Amino acid sequence: MEKEEIIKMLNEDFVRELEATMIYSYNSFIIENCDSSRVTEAISVDEMRHMWWLADLITKRGGKPTMKHKELDFGGDDLKSQLERQIQLETEGIKIYSQQIEEIDDEEVVGVLKHIIDEEKRHRKEFRMRLEEL
Ligand SMILES: [Fe+2]
Ligand SMILES: [Fe+2]
Repeated sequence: MEKEEIIKMLNEDFVRELEATMIYSYNSFIIENCDSSRVTEAISVDEMRHMWWLADLITKRGGKPTMKHKELDFGGDDLKSQLERQIQLETEGIKIYSQQIEEIDDEEVVGVLKHIIDEEKRHRKEFRMRLEEL
C-alpha cells in the first residue's frame, strides 16, 4: 500500500474517531442515568486519544488530519437507543480496523490499530453491559 493511500485511510479512521468523540461527549451531557453517563464520558476521552494516535501517524507520514466530519447520528433521546448507537459505532470501528490490519504492511500503523481494536472491544462490552441492565 502506497504512503498516500495509508494517509487517506488513516484520515477516514481519524474522522470516525472524531465523530465518536463528539457523539459520546454530547450523549454524556444528556443521559440522565448516572453510571451510563459517566461511562460514556470516560469513553469519549478514549476516542479523543485515538484521534491523537491517528493524527500522529498521519503527520509523521507527511499528511494532515481532516476535521471534515459527516452529519452526526447520536442515536436518539432515550438511553436504549443511545447505547445501541454507541455499540453500533464500536462494532463498525472494530470491523474496519480489522480489515485495514490485513491490508497494511506498515508495522507502526498495524501496532496502533491493534491497540485501538482492543479498546473498542472493551468499550462495546461496557455499553452492552449497560444495555442488558435496562
Ligand atoms: Fe476509538
Ligand atoms: Fe470506542
